[in-house]
Amino acid sequence: MANDAVAGNALRVAPASPTGRDDPVRAVLTAYTKDLITAVEDTLATFLAAEVDALTDIDAAMGGFAATARDCVLAGGKRVRPTFAYWGWRGAAGGADPLPPVLPAFAALELLHTFALVHDDVMDASATRRGRPTAHVALAARHAAAGHRGDPRRFGEAVAVLIGDLCMVWADRLLAHAALPPARLLDVRRCYDQMRVETVAGQYLDVLGENDAANWSVDLALRVARYKTASYTVQRPLLFGARLAGVGDDDPLAAAYTRYGLAVGEAFQLCDDLLDIYGDPAVTGKPSGDDLRTGKPTALLMLARQLATPTQRRALDRVGAGVGDTEVARLAELVADTGAVDRVERMVSDRVAEALTALDTASIDETTRTALTGLATAATNWRA
Ligand code: IPE
Ligand code: IPE
Ligand code: MG
Ligand code: MG
Ligand code: MG
Repeated sequence: MANDAVAGNALRVAPASPTGRDDPVRAVLTAYTKDLITAVEDTLATFLAAEVDALTDIDAAMGGFAATARDCVLAGGKRVRPTFAYWGWRGAAGGADPLPPVLPAFAALELLHTFALVHDDVMDASATRRGRPTAHVALAARHAAAGHRGDPRRFGEAVAVLIGDLCMVWADRLLAHAALPPARLLDVRRCYDQMRVETVAGQYLDVLGENDAANWSVDLALRVARYKTASYTVQRPLLFGARLAGVGDDDPLAAAYTRYGLAVGEAFQLCDDLLDIYGDPAVTGKPSGDDLRTGKPTALLMLARQLATPTQRRALDRVGAGVGDTEVARLAELVADTGAVDRVERMVSDRVAEALTALDTASIDETTRTALTGLATAATNWRA
């Protein structure tokens, strides 16, 4: 298929995974949109260089803070959201429209994602992200090494909140660089705002679930997945792309994108839940077993509880109860023994099938259809 994301640019290989190993999902995603990912990362680097310089002018101490925020953005990641936004736009625009005017909007989604990740890591008390210490952990270590007064952990979390805030403002600022008529940009903003509200709603329900696991259900876990992930990862990036091309939510294409986007987006989070327990941290760049340690009631864990025998259920009650590494490994085996992994894998393939059915009816060109077909599989191939 054509790698036509940036007409006229020589094909360049996207940067390697920050984990130092080839990330299989990223490899497949970049095969479809290699030039786009390079263009997004170039846009981000140029934008962030100017922003970091401007902040450093305020106070030299600001340089380290702003540079840490920049590094969180540029430290890798699969760039899934700009990729779906690009294909949403491409499917709506039909390949004739030039990329440069809308490129800042695609890149803005990655800044929004960094905001979500940095705050998420504080909320989930996660130690690593993209193969490096999370922002709050790195900042706490810096505080301790400098011999500052006060609690390093509180400092790390406070500054990480600010880094997330800054990334959110940067996202807005970069989005405003999209060269579009004001009325269209306003329409794009409405979609962008809805996406942000839904992400916050999903994250709230996620935190609530962790504190009310006894009253959670598979349905609630799927609702969390829909709002905390599917919305801002696949569904609304596709709609955002369509709006960049002037296609609104009343168009049949938007219905097809929503059907595809919710299915792939939910499947993406179901895979993330599987990776949390069975993934290799050297590949995911994230810790393994956090959901078992914190007792997050993911769809996977809710199904494990449902399918467990009474003895298995008693053992599963240890989830979230201050378990150490050995017990985490035992619980991971137990979850698989209940049949929950097979069940979640079936839920993933059902959703991929649903997404492909949605594509059948969408009026998009063959290049977009091929890309979205490949992306549905690549983004949900957690065993790759
Ligand atoms: C991680 O998203 C957060 C979730 C919504 C599951 P990604 O898996 O897209 O993270 P990066 O950007 O590649 O690091
Ligand atoms: C993340 O869900 C969703 C957002 C960042 C909005 P998780 O908490 O499962 O994501 P990871 O596993 O930390 O990437
Ligand atoms: Mg998390
Ligand atoms: Mg989380
Ligand atoms: Mg997770």
